[in-house]
Amino acid sequence: MVTIKSKKEIESMRDACKVVAILYNELENKIKPGMSTWELDQIAEKIMKENGAIPAEKGYNPGIKGVPAYPAATCISINDEVIHGVPSKHKIIKEGDIVSVDTVALKNGFNGDAARTFIVGNVPNETKRLIDVTKQAFFEGIKYAKPGYRIGDISHAIGEYVHSQGYSVVREFQGHGIGRSMHEDPGIPNYGKAGKGLRIEPGMTLAIEPMVIQGKPNILELDDGWTIITEDGSLSAHYENTILITEKEPEILTII
Ligand code: MF3
Ligand code: CO
Repeated sequence: MVTIKSKKEIESMRDACKVVAILYNELENKIKPGMSTWELDQIAEKIMKENGAIPAEKGYNPGIKGVPAYPAATCISINDEVIHGVPSKHKIIKEGDIVSVDTVALKNGFNGDAARTFIVGNVPNETKRLIDVTKQAFFEGIKYAKPGYRIGDISHAIGEYVHSQGYSVVREFQGHGIGRSMHEDPGIPNYGKAGKGLRIEPGMTLAIEPMVIQGKPNILELDDGWTIITEDGSLSAHYENTILITEKEPEILTII
């Protein structure tokens, strides 16, 4: 269901999203080589709780037969892991890694969702470019996140930009509406046809999230039922924000 948020609901969305913004601002300085992804997850959960939110991903049940409830506060995906990496004491972050963190804060009944890819130490320029392009893809997409356009315009802009930069977008996962539920309609693919799909209206809150692969677009799912990796072993980056549609430019709720 597509939900249009009231003024009061928008304030609650702002509040939940702000927690995620604070969290990423803090995490940026906390990610260090030698740390396990479990440790990083613990830090994220603590920041969320200090800010009056609970981690919505923990215990999240996608309702797919055989897929276990998600066990952690964050998804942490390193290098060729695309999304949904499950934090573990055995997964140690190394110098030269790229680390994608995706988390959702639940506060006063509303969800804020965002993802960032962090660089640990030094990486080649081409890796930096992958991360920059992924972030820019979000900004290319939201140029169309306003009344007068449709969801397909956002999708198209993201896909065209990423492809123009020589990278691939993930086709099996997408952005989404968000509110009282972490995932609401509409789905927002990272590729598509301009002029198609739902009309964009003020009061919609949307999570736009380019997932970009350096090589071929194909992905694989690991036996844990969660972790998604690139089939060709190439690197992948993720950038996501929750935005509010207004009469004019969209407001990015998960950046402060
Ligand atoms: N936060 C993810 C998204 O961007 C969803 C993660 S699934 C979960 O939509 F199980 F980890 F919660
Ligand atoms: Co999302």
